[in-house]
Formats: sequence, structure tokens, C-alpha cells
Amino acid sequence: MKRLKNKVALITGSARGIGSHFAKAFINEGAKVAICDINKKEATSFAKSLGSNAIAIEMDVTNQNSIDHAINEVEKKFQHIDILINNAAVFSAAPISEITHEEYNHVFNVNVFGTLFTMQAVANHMIAANRAGKIINMASQAGRRGEPLVATYCASKAAVISLTQSAGLNLIKHNINVNAISPGVVDGEHWDGVDKLFAKYENKKIGQKKQEVGSLVPFGRMGKPEDLVGMAVFLASSEADYIVAQTYNVDGGQWMN
Ligand SMILES: NC(=O)c1ccc[n+]([C@@H]2O[C@H](COP(=O)([O-])OP(=O)(O)OC[C@H]3O[C@@H](n4cnc5c(N)ncnc54)[C@H](O)[C@@H]3O)[C@@H](O)[C@H]2O)c1
Repeated sequence: MKRLKNKVALITGSARGIGSHFAKAFINEGAKVAICDINKKEATSFAKSLGSNAIAIEMDVTNQNSIDHAINEVEKKFQHIDILINNAAVFSAAPISEITHEEYNHVFNVNVFGTLFTMQAVANHMIAANRAGKIINMASQAGRRGEPLVATYCASKAAVISLTQSAGLNLIKHNINVNAISPGVVDGEHWDGVDKLFAKYENKKIGQKKQEVGSLVPFGRMGKPEDLVGMAVFLASSEADYIVAQTYNVDGGQWMN
């Protein structure tokens, strides 16, 4: 039995990385998926590779018009939206003394504004259509505690966990479940960038930080995007109807709360 049969999912930041694996898994479970990403070229070629149950939409989650446009496009093509994954995010690292307004604004605009106002627009769409829905926000172990070089990103992911709690409590009366996934360290292009920043600030060789963080994971290695898809499919399915405002660690044993 396909667990997301005839469901429509809007996944932000899904042209690559973890979001692209969510999209593949959702299609395998019978869903139709909108690949929404600021990178139009990558989104278009990826959606094409998924076949007729996927569309690509250029979307910048920091821009309200772009959020509204993406929702209209999904409605036009697939009639409604049942599932949102707020997955788009950016990372930055710097010691407190070097954080700039530009870096702070960029991280908070994508990770916090984007999560809140995409969630608001999709929830309003679900409420107007009188349809139940599932919203999944991508948090991070970085949102569970601060890190010396990662203040803005950690704070933005703590905000995602808090928004998940408030929105989860506020929207369940409309049968909209809001929950979050908190990954640990997941290999891919995102972490290639993280590794480079740590090489700069901690005087390490390229690849060294990745190796170090991987060896500290109780499971014994960094995560892979595939490790996260089971939780995403579960939270998007009717099996999770009674789950409200939670953030689940999927991190190989890194974090316990
Ligand atoms: N990779 C990890 O180790 C890790 C760990 C914890 C949490 N996460 C979270 O998981 C999610 C996915 O991470 P990933 O590793 O796949 O990241 P990634 O950098 O590989 O992918 C992020 C995607 O978001 C898109 N994007 C960036 N800005 C955007 C914007 N303004 N509007 C729309 N799209 C935009 C990018 O084009 C990219 O396709 C993120 O929320 C991230 O914070 C990742």
C-alpha cells in the first residue's frame, strides 16, 4: 500500500540534498511533488528526472510574492496541497566578533522568515480548502544548543523548533499537524560548505572536520539523506495524525531530548 497515495507535497529547497531525497521517496509512496527551489535550473532538471508526478517551481522563501506564486502554481497543476516540507535553509559560520548584519539577515530570512511565512501561506490555503494537512519543518541538532562558531545558524534552528511548537499547537484544531525533523550531520553539498568554513576558522585540512564529526556520531558515521526519508514519510502520512508540535532527532544517536 502506498502511504502517500494522491497526496500533493510542496517541498522547499528540494533541487538537491536532503529535500531531493524526500521528493523521490514521496513519489515512490504515491505523492505528487512540487520541487520548489531558488535554483531554477537544478530544480527543473531534477523534476524532469522524476517524471510526470513532479513539477519544478522557482521559489525564494525570503519573498512573500514568491511564496504565494509557488502555492498558486501547485494549485494550478495539482489542485491542492496536503503536505509542506520547509526544507530550504542556508548555513553560516563565524566567531561572534565577525558576524555581519548581511550574514545574520540572510540566515534568518531563509531559515526563519521562510519557514514561518511559507508555513502560514500553506496553512491558510489548507484551512480555506477545508483540508487536513501535514507540515514538516527541518530543524537541526544545531537548534538544540549553541556552538562557538555557528551562532546565527544555531539560533535560526532553535527558532524553527519553537515555531514548530507554536504552530503545531495553533493549527491542530484545523487538522494540520506541524512537526519537525532534527538531523545531526548529513553528508552532501551542504556539509562540503560547512567543512570549508571550519577549515578556515579551525585551521583544518579540507575533509578533516567531516571525518571528525562522523567519528563522533554514536552510530559510527555521518548521516546520509536516505537516513531521513523514513521519518519524513511517516510524519507526512496518516500514521502521524496524533503527533503534534514535536521535533524528532534523526541523528545516529547524537542528541537525546
Ligand atoms: N546536511 C546536514 O548536515 C543538515 C543537518 C541538520 C539540518 N539540516 C537541514 O536540512 C535541510 C536540508 O539540508 P541539505 O543538507 O539538503 O541542504 P542543501 O544546502 O544541500 O540544500 C538546500 C537547498 O535549499 C535551496 N535554497 C537556499 N536558499 C533558498 C531560498 N531562499 N528559497 C528557496 N530555496 C532555497 C538551495 O538552492 C538548496 O537546493 C536544511 O533545512 C538544513 O538546515 C541539514
